Amino acid sequence: MDIIEAIITRRSMRRFSEKPVAETLVQSLLEAVRMSPSWANMQCWRFIVVRDPATKEKFSELSYVESFFAPKGYKANPSKKGLAEAPVVIVACADPSQSGVLWNQHYYMTDIGIAAQSLMLAAHGLGLGTVFVGVFDEEKLRPLLNIPAHIRIVGLFPVGYPRDEKKEGPPRKSLDEIVFHEKWG
Ligand SMILES: Cc1cc2nc3c(=O)[nH]c(=O)nc-3n(C[C@H](O)[C@H](O)[C@H](O)COP(=O)(O)O)c2cc1C
Repeated sequence: MDIIEAIITRRSMRRFSEKPVAETLVQSLLEAVRMSPSWANMQCWRFIVVRDPATKEKFSELSYVESFFAPKGYKANPSKKGLAEAPVVIVACADPSQSGVLWNQHYYMTDIGIAAQSLMLAAHGLGLGTVFVGVFDEEKLRPLLNIPAHIRIVGLFPVGYPRDEKKEGPPRKSLDEIVFHEKWG
């Protein structure tokens, strides 16, 4: 699979079979993540690999948003079941002090975003499925994983063999809507 095909055919996978994921494959995912670009190469990311069923169950329970922050019409996290059933969940954390802030842009989010795409594409290339889960109760998750207060938890990535094959993702905006030439608008 070439790189463009990999980018285009990757889909968020939210349900997983019981087939275990070999440790060597998890290591390959982590290697891909490790090689991602980051602000001043400071690599502000830290990852926690979770296989414990009770902890994954807690991830599922905590994958909600309080109503105030919930996007309009938001009910349950579509990845709620997948967080518990995936054989592995990779928790992506960031130390903001190890990344840049310039003109109110907080680059630790960018760093993790890029690492996340590495992880998702690597999983796709290895025949695994995953999804970026960004909606969860960070304050309740932090003590569960002994994460210090200054570290942000940015994403949860359930990893496993997809239960169903999914070819089509949600529609994308057309290039006309998102690309300008020479000037805005
Ligand atoms: C920052 C971020 C947070 C996300 N949070 C969630 C989430 O909490 N639950 C979920 O099921 N999907 C989540 N997604 C996945 C998106 O819904 C998904 O990428 C989008 O609908 C496009 O579908 P595709 O990935 O299959 O192309 C998130 C994606 C991103 C980039």
